[in-house]
Amino acid sequence: MLKGHKETLISAVALVVALPLFAAPAGADNNPPLAPLGDPPIPADNPQTPEKIELGRMLFFDPRLGGDASTACSSCHNQEQGWGFSDDLSRGYPGTVHWRNSQTVINSAYYGKLFWVGAASSLERQAPSAAKGAVAGNGENDVMEARLAFIPEYREAFRSVFGDEWPKIGNAWRAIASFERTLVQTDTPLDRYLRGEEEALSEQQLRGKALFEGKANCIECHNGPMATDERYYNIGVPPAPRWEEDALAQITFRYEQYAKGVTEELYRFIKDDAGLYYRTKQKEDMGKFRTPSLRYTLYTAPYMHNGALWDLTEVVEFYNNGGGENEFGHNLSPLIRPLGLNDDEIEDLVAFLEAFSGPEIRMTVPELPAYQPLPDPAE
Ligand code: HEC
Ligand code: HEC
Repeated sequence: MLKGHKETLISAVALVVALPLFAAPAGADNNPPLAPLGDPPIPADNPQTPEKIELGRMLFFDPRLGGDASTACSSCHNQEQGWGFSDDLSRGYPGTVHWRNSQTVINSAYYGKLFWVGAASSLERQAPSAAKGAVAGNGENDVMEARLAFIPEYREAFRSVFGDEWPKIGNAWRAIASFERTLVQTDTPLDRYLRGEEEALSEQQLRGKALFEGKANCIECHNGPMATDERYYNIGVPPAPRWEEDALAQITFRYEQYAKGVTEELYRFIKDDAGLYYRTKQKEDMGKFRTPSLRYTLYTAPYMHNGALWDLTEVVEFYNNGGGENEFGHNLSPLIRPLGLNDDEIEDLVAFLEAFSGPEIRMTVPELPAYQPLPDPAE
């Protein structure tokens, strides 16, 4: 929490910054307006086919694409937990906890860069890093590929979808990416409203929308059809308490510092996730994370890269207080400042945030085909 003279200073700054905003119409400052979501982009070299999507769906739920055949994509992207994982820090590979909050895979097809700091440039490239990462799937390519070869239904599907004589692991990621491109939601109350259905939003939600685009200025970063500018900011999310208290969480936290190649001094003393810094090694990127979409967030609590905030009201109160504090305060975005929303306005804004989500997306978990020994080729 901000206290004492710092608070006065910040509200003085906020006043100066806020004045022109009240005068400006919604969506000014060249922010793209909120917009209905269309179909996701499909890469030319991985076209969608029903058979490929179905194969990808099975693989997404199949724990054999991982180290000890216990951890599927769906273990951490659970449809009953918003296609994410509803702990602050995600579960990890057995014996570990992850160091970040698991993101929903709903609508991930629209992002230019994936992960909290944009570390993967496509779903096809993201999937292997998830299946192989030591604190995620911890799988090994050749082992996973051999497993696929011993499942006749997969042999048949890889042959017919990709022309593989034997299943190729690279094509498993392509199939999963195709499946993920079907996990989209384009008919939320907000989409319907923006397409002209005026009654799709309640009076309260409309008041919330005006705040979102005006006094609360969320539109500055959460804009366009996905409600994200896909840029990186430090908004002052406090460090995860579990990095202080929980040995397993500390192990992963230290491991990640090492894996991401920070200086020895940082490795020893850093107590918070430096975010974009690990990619760029620029001090001014410390504590910055990709603006996430607000779509489907009704089901994806807790929020932020480390799950520090447990519901949408807490999120709005966090912004209303001018963000929070972390180790990288020098990089706090100047756009984050006390908002002066009263209790009614907080409720209106939360009601509007709920309009970014339609009904929950659920499906039956596919029945997974069993291993079969291969006939002796000499016979
Ligand atoms: C052990 C848990 C775990 C497993 C297993 C796992 N994930 Fe994830 N996933 C996460 C976490 C945590 C993040 C955020 C990590 C980060 O940004 O550093 C994430 C991020 C993602 C994202 C990025 C979404 C966005 O908004 O950018 C996608 C897509 C995704 N996972 C798909 C998959 C797929 C496909 C698989 C299986 C091949 C998989 N995940 C396996 C935990 C997991
Ligand atoms: C300066 C850019 C910026 C502004 C302004 C901003 N946000 Fe965010 N928002 C972000 C970033 C960046 C994150 C992720 C931060 C992190 O994890 O450390 C985020 C995270 C969120 C999340 C969590 C989503 C998730 O999947 O965990 C919600 C909800 C949210 N913002 C709502 C709002 C609302 C409501 C407003 C207006 C009161 C707002 N934001 C203003 C950049 C911004």
